[in-house]
Amino acid sequence: MQTVNNQAIGRATGKIILMGEHAVVYGEPSLAIPFPKATIQTTVTPSTGPITVDCIYHKGLLTDVPERLSNLLTVVEISLKALKKELKDFSLKIDSSIPAERGMGSSAAVAVATVRALFNYFEQELTHDQLLELVNVSEVIAHGNPSGLDAAMTSGEQPLYYIKGKPFVPFKMSVDAYLVVADTGIKGQTREAVGSIAALMKEHPEETMNDIHQLGELADKAKTAIEENSPIDLGSYMHQAHLLLDKLGVSNEQLNQLVDAALANGALGAKLTGGGRGGCMIALADSETTAQQISDALRETGTSNTWIYQLGDDSFE
Ligand code: MEV
Repeated sequence: MQTVNNQAIGRATGKIILMGEHAVVYGEPSLAIPFPKATIQTTVTPSTGPITVDCIYHKGLLTDVPERLSNLLTVVEISLKALKKELKDFSLKIDSSIPAERGMGSSAAVAVATVRALFNYFEQELTHDQLLELVNVSEVIAHGNPSGLDAAMTSGEQPLYYIKGKPFVPFKMSVDAYLVVADTGIKGQTREAVGSIAALMKEHPEETMNDIHQLGELADKAKTAIEENSPIDLGSYMHQAHLLLDKLGVSNEQLNQLVDAALANGALGAKLTGGGRGGCMIALADSETTAQQISDALRETGTSNTWIYQLGDDSFE
């Protein structure tokens, strides 16, 4: 039980998809890591009026995006149903440093933190499966056809290898390298990008499935590169994955420019991460100095934010 002064909190982390985004929707492997540099905390406090939501959201309020607020209220509604509670006399406060709509799993993380906080508030046990089930309901609304990866990543605190419909397999991030994460400052379009690949799949099933399959193979190869501590191979697979994602139409000019700038400044590989068409990109660096050089170069090309993250460091900011 985590209620303090009648308040209850729930937390979640952001996530970074290293490999396999989009392909995971079609049953191919994917690799994702928690991103503890960006987190969400929901606090539930008793109040006398009807439910109120107060959000301190990274660079903007959650309530600035009406569909996000309605999604959050859906999360509250389904959680209360699962809790067999009707009571609505509480307020929710959401503190988030996960940029919204950037492929970092913010929609799933808001849901994870909120479901956890509500179960804590009503002092009821929440199993991990139950949490994933509740979060996936809101992910269907946010993404259309979610693979379940975002819900699993933002609720767990370990790197995962994931094939849709199969158990999540934790893996050790045993590669000595740094990740530079850069936000294009442009709203990612996961739902549209997932839909456009579905349309391609109808139009050109063989070629599209072949590209998706190659993305899956690259995710498997990347896992081996991580296990063998081969940052050079990992970088090469990341770059190949970006080219395939671009071919599938889920990159855009800004992402491609950032990928090129990262490669020109010493990155071992770079790619979009998450749904694409905006959102974030990641670049792999063999040292902190190179990571800083890449980060500086990306900031010069106009990216709105960058983070440098030592792979395997799971300390929370
Ligand atoms: C979005 O972060 C990742 C996608 O693969 C969609 C999904 O897995 O549900 C694009």
